[in-house]
Amino acid sequence: MQDRYAVVGNPIAHSKSPAIHTLFAKQTQQKLSYEKILIELGHFEKDVKRFFTSGGKGLNVTVPFKENAFTFPDQLTPRAQLAGAVNTLIQQTDGSILGDTTDGAGLINDLQRNCFLLKNAKILVLGAGGAVRGILEPLLAQQPKEVVIANRTVAKAQMLADIFDNYGNIRACGFDDLTGYEFDTVINGTSASLAGELPPVPESIFANNKNTGAYDMMYSKKLTPFLLWAKQQNVSLLTDGLGMLVGQAAESFQLWRGVMPDITPVIDALRNQ
Ligand code: ATR
Repeated sequence: MQDRYAVVGNPIAHSKSPAIHTLFAKQTQQKLSYEKILIELGHFEKDVKRFFTSGGKGLNVTVPFKENAFTFPDQLTPRAQLAGAVNTLIQQTDGSILGDTTDGAGLINDLQRNCFLLKNAKILVLGAGGAVRGILEPLLAQQPKEVVIANRTVAKAQMLADIFDNYGNIRACGFDDLTGYEFDTVINGTSASLAGELPPVPESIFANNKNTGAYDMMYSKKLTPFLLWAKQQNVSLLTDGLGMLVGQAAESFQLWRGVMPDITPVIDALRNQ
């Protein structure tokens, strides 16, 4: 029988994870199945337990079950604890379930692939929700000059900066406080793009550098409002979050199968769909 994997969420019909993992399996010649499973609200624990006791090997978890994914596993990896999030469940040889998060690694992989400045760079992160918390430690591990978290609700940004205060180069502020500061890499981690909105950021935030880049953790067929805005300010390095999506999936695949797939052809295939 083929090893079974799946993504669980509600809704789940739109998920690209089955297409991505099927392409990874083909590319790396692994025999496995990957399906999408709709879980009713309140049924997460029961359904996930059943998946694993009936032979399932690993799961990706998406909205609205991020909280459940964090409390369900028998163990959490240190990076999942720091991120306060789990997107990957792995059944270990003794049957216990390990929870890990691959979002941060997926983002770093995509930023590096697209030549964004990280080491010694001034990095601005917009937003302070769960998605941003998951990327801060991996970003700080790249040894930037500084990471600034700007958020509409400043207290939430401050709370995140406090968690990672031991790095010594992270601070929080409101959008208005950004006036007069310039950054090499600006990452939009707000959910504003989902609503077709732009975070209210001053226009002067991009350093005048040929490698200055704007990254939106959301993806869409056309430029997100944030990337369009950055383009209007002559930022040439513009990347949306499709590569992060494929990158986090690749990291999950590696955890389950021990092989790291090549993400570039998979991103290209999804773009052309
Ligand atoms: P996620 O899990 O995607 O991080 P979240 O935890 O709800 O979702 O966080 C959403 C983030 O987007 C928050 O930082 C939110 O700002 P507030 O903390 O002030 O609510 C931010 N956000 C959402 N819509 C926004 C908008 N139109 N402009 C600016 N920030 C926005």
